Amino acid sequence: MRKPFVAGNWKMNTDSHSSVALAEAVAAGSSGFAGSSVDVAVIPPFVYLQAVAKAVSSSHIGLGSQDIYFEQNGAFTGEISALMLKDIGCTYVLCGHSERRHVIGETDELVNKKITAAIAGGLLPIFCVGELIEQRKAEKTTEVITQQIEAGLAGLSTEKVSAVTIAYEPVWAIGTGLTATSEQAQETHCLIRQLLAKMYSEQLAQEIRIQYGGSVKPGNAAELMAQKDVDGLLVGGASLKADDFLAIIQAAA
Ligand code: PGA
Repeated sequence: MRKPFVAGNWKMNTDSHSSVALAEAVAAGSSGFAGSSVDVAVIPPFVYLQAVAKAVSSSHIGLGSQDIYFEQNGAFTGEISALMLKDIGCTYVLCGHSERRHVIGETDELVNKKITAAIAGGLLPIFCVGELIEQRKAEKTTEVITQQIEAGLAGLSTEKVSAVTIAYEPVWAIGTGLTATSEQAQETHCLIRQLLAKMYSEQLAQEIRIQYGGSVKPGNAAELMAQKDVDGLLVGGASLKADDFLAIIQAAA
């Protein structure tokens, strides 16, 4: 069975003190179930990764990075490689988050290179996909998600793809307070699983975890998690408050 997986994406928030305090509170509050009935990760800004790594070192909380560059090292000013992330204790890395696609301008091709480099470097990518509101209204959700998944995973073997968690995050639900209904989430998660069965195998499709993200809160986490194909949650805003994030982790456990 797929173990639930909840990750908190802190985005460009916290500071050197609050990042450590938040990580410590999450580690302490989830010590009874993190790692056993649910996998948990926190994803702080790059500059606080090492401090947070230390804060969660004796817990079952995993550490993730919000981005990665696809080269190992060299003249790439401002970028961070899989080698570096591994070196400081990261396990996970977000690839293709909608803010990177739509604010920074990352393409499917770049996302594919990042996922490939992350796996090659021994990291576990959380590969984000999701449609814009115009695309949903134009009934293009299936087409958009299919394109993002096919392009993002291009060239990767079944074995490599088994390292990936997919996060379905409808762009219109991120940070807006609008959550996809549990039916909308289930429908798209099911579509993603069917697509993976076609691209790889039924076994891979059954084993891979698909998180939902977009305005997840303590009040909607349980209903989303009750859907057959929702295996976890990628949480933005609500992961910045330890109590809210812990309530979401508990709902998923
Ligand atoms: P949100 O963000 O929970 O604040 O909507 C989710 C995400 O972007 O991962």
